[in-house]
Amino acid sequence: MTTSETLQADALQGGFDETIAREQRVEPRDWMPDGYRKSLIRQIAQHAHSEIIGMQPEGNWLTRAPSLRRKAILMAKVQDEAGHGLYLYSAAETLGADRADLTVKLIEGKQKYSSIFNYPTLTYADVGTIGWLVDGAAICNQVPLCRSSFGPYARAMIRVCKEESFHQRQGYELLATMMRGTDEQRAMVQESVNRWWWPALMMFGPPDDESPNTEQSMKWGIKRHTNDELRQRFVDMSIPQAEALGVTFPDPDLEWNDERQSHDFGEPDWSEFMQVIKGNGASNVERIANRRAAHFGGAWVREAAMAFAARNAS
Ligand SMILES: [Fe+2]
Ligand SMILES: [Fe+2]
Repeated sequence: MTTSETLQADALQGGFDETIAREQRVEPRDWMPDGYRKSLIRQIAQHAHSEIIGMQPEGNWLTRAPSLRRKAILMAKVQDEAGHGLYLYSAAETLGADRADLTVKLIEGKQKYSSIFNYPTLTYADVGTIGWLVDGAAICNQVPLCRSSFGPYARAMIRVCKEESFHQRQGYELLATMMRGTDEQRAMVQESVNRWWWPALMMFGPPDDESPNTEQSMKWGIKRHTNDELRQRFVDMSIPQAEALGVTFPDPDLEWNDERQSHDFGEPDWSEFMQVIKGNGASNVERIANRRAAHFGGAWVREAAMAFAARNAS
C-alpha cells in the first residue's frame, strides 16, 4: 500500500469505528471491514436457514392437526417462518451474498442451522412446546438483535420478533388447552416439555468461555448479550410460565437464588449438543434430504420465473 492508500484505509476504518461507537447503524452502502461482513453473512445465513429448516418439525403435523382451527393456526405459523427466512436471505444479499449460493451451502452441509430443528416432533403437544419454548428462546435471542449494528438485519428483526411473539402465544395457548383436558393430554404435555427443555437451553449456543465468536461480535455490535446471559434470561422468564401452566422442567438443580435474584440451573449435556451440530442428531439427515428434495423439485418454478422476467425485460 502507498502512503495515501494507507491514509484512506485508516479513514474508512475510523469512520466505521465511529459509527459503531455512536450506536448508529451500518448500512449496505457504507464501508465495513471484511471480517464484519463475513461474520454477518455467516450469522444471517445461519438464521435464515434455521427459519426454513424450522418449518419441517411442525410442518410434520399439518396433515394431522386435531381441528380445522389448529390446522389454520399451524399453517399460518409455518408460513410465517418461510417469510422470516426470505426476509433474512434478502438481508444477507445486501452484504453481497447470493441467495442461491447460500441455499447450496445449506444443502451441502457447509453452513449450519439451529441444532434444535434436528429433534423429531413425536406428538401434537410438541407443536405447543415448540411455540412456547423454541420460539420463546428465539425471541430472547432476537429481541436484542433489533439493535444490531447492521441496519437491514436490525430492521428485519423488528418484524420477525412481532411474529415470533404470536408464535409463542399460540404454543402456550395450545398447551394451556391441553392442560385443561384429560390426564392423558396433561401427561403428553409434560413428556413433550421434558424432551424439549434441554435442547431449548442449548439454542443459546455453548457457554461463554467456549464461544469463539462472541467477543468480536459484541465489539462490532452484531451481538448484544453473551450466550450465558441470554440463557439465564430465558430460564428466569420460563419458570413462572411453567408454574402457571402446571408443568415442571426436568432439572433437579433448578432453584431460586436469592443472592443473584435469578434461578440456578443445571448444565445442558454439551456432548449431545456437539453431536447434533456434527450431524448426528435424530433428524439431521431427514431435514437436509427434505430441503434438497424441495430445492430440486422446485427448480422448474425458478426457471419459469427467470424466463418470465427475462422476457418482460427484453
Ligand atoms: Fe421465525
Ligand atoms: Fe417462530
